[in-house]
Amino acid sequence: MSAGGIETLGDLRGKRVLVRSDLNVPLDGDRITDDGRIRASVPTIRRLSEAGARVVVTAHLGRPKGAPDPAYSLAPVAARLGELLGRPVAFAEDTVGPSARRVVQGLGDGDVALLENVRFNEGETSKDERVRGAFADDLASLVDAFVSDGFGVVHRKQASVYDVATRLPSAMGALVGAEIDVLRRLTVDPERPFVVVLGGSKVSDKLGVIDNLLGKADKLLIGGGMVFTFLKAQGHEVGKSLLEEDQVETCRRYLTEAAERGVQILLPTDVVVDTAFPSGDQEPTPRVVAADAIPADALGLDIGPDSARAFAAALSDAKTVFWNGPMGVFEVPAFAEGTRAVAQALTEIDGLSVVGGGDSAAAVRTLGFDEASFGHISTGGGASLEYLEGKVLPGIAVLER
Ligand code: 3PG
Repeated sequence: MSAGGIETLGDLRGKRVLVRSDLNVPLDGDRITDDGRIRASVPTIRRLSEAGARVVVTAHLGRPKGAPDPAYSLAPVAARLGELLGRPVAFAEDTVGPSARRVVQGLGDGDVALLENVRFNEGETSKDERVRGAFADDLASLVDAFVSDGFGVVHRKQASVYDVATRLPSAMGALVGAEIDVLRRLTVDPERPFVVVLGGSKVSDKLGVIDNLLGKADKLLIGGGMVFTFLKAQGHEVGKSLLEEDQVETCRRYLTEAAERGVQILLPTDVVVDTAFPSGDQEPTPRVVAADAIPADALGLDIGPDSARAFAAALSDAKTVFWNGPMGVFEVPAFAEGTRAVAQALTEIDGLSVVGGGDSAAAVRTLGFDEASFGHISTGGGASLEYLEGKVLPGIAVLER
């Protein structure tokens, strides 16, 4: 069974509709440094507002500990959402308390409100179903219907994602619908060659996806901090680079399994190193070394230029690409070239290119790429990885019941 879209909720004029969006954006103080997720949430909110609904948006920011914490307030997000919508967004200073009730009561048809960070309530993320359920009851009591549009959280079994959908007439928002459609194209008979590029710091975050994609992808390109555990598995020393000792054996198994299955795993042959992780007060001193000869005092921070060229070449004939995780510390120009080369190669392929959320989406924007030159930039890193691992996403499954 598949979940219905907003149209299945019928005439929305005057109805109070709770929308779960993912507005978890990076902040520097109260300045939003990348508003991609807010922009991605606008179409569903606008559509509901234009249909005359009284739109109540709920979302989280960061991982506060179940109690109010001003550092994680959604107030700056409310202001930005208002700018993007071109209409004021009323902000409630709590999620289900007196402020939320007053704000929701004050909404006219088409008006939009944002509730304070849903994770300021311990019920949101509680593992105890009764605690979560009681909080979901409070949330549900504010409104008449629910729209799930926070793709970045559909892998979380949390009150505002899962439990609330069991209590209200519920539908899938446009963003979640679009994200799932694209991910389905990656998993159901992808056009070949299907190339997967994985980076980011930890190989342990990617084990499930590697396991599952080894049987589906034609080539697996690996960069970022996770590559050093693979290099170690090949018997190379990695100096002071990031290393997950407990995953070396698993990486060795992947290398063997890939060879047996005829899947090409491409690892960098050169890396850009420095003697320390870049910090604000010190000029980086990057140098390129061979991946099988990383000096003991060096720390790998990007794939090298030969590897960047090899990765781009391996992507050039791809018909389907999924990329998750930067190739290096892209925030620092001296270590951004590997990530830039992969992003550039994705913009040039004649096929479907999918950038899988989080850091890679931020990298694409930070490095100045036009988002429109990629097939799809996912708003959910963890969620898209879990989908590609073949896991059930509770926030989707609950809508399909
Ligand atoms: C994300 O940033 O990937 C989503 O907003 C989910 O956040 P979480 O990992 O804190 O649940």
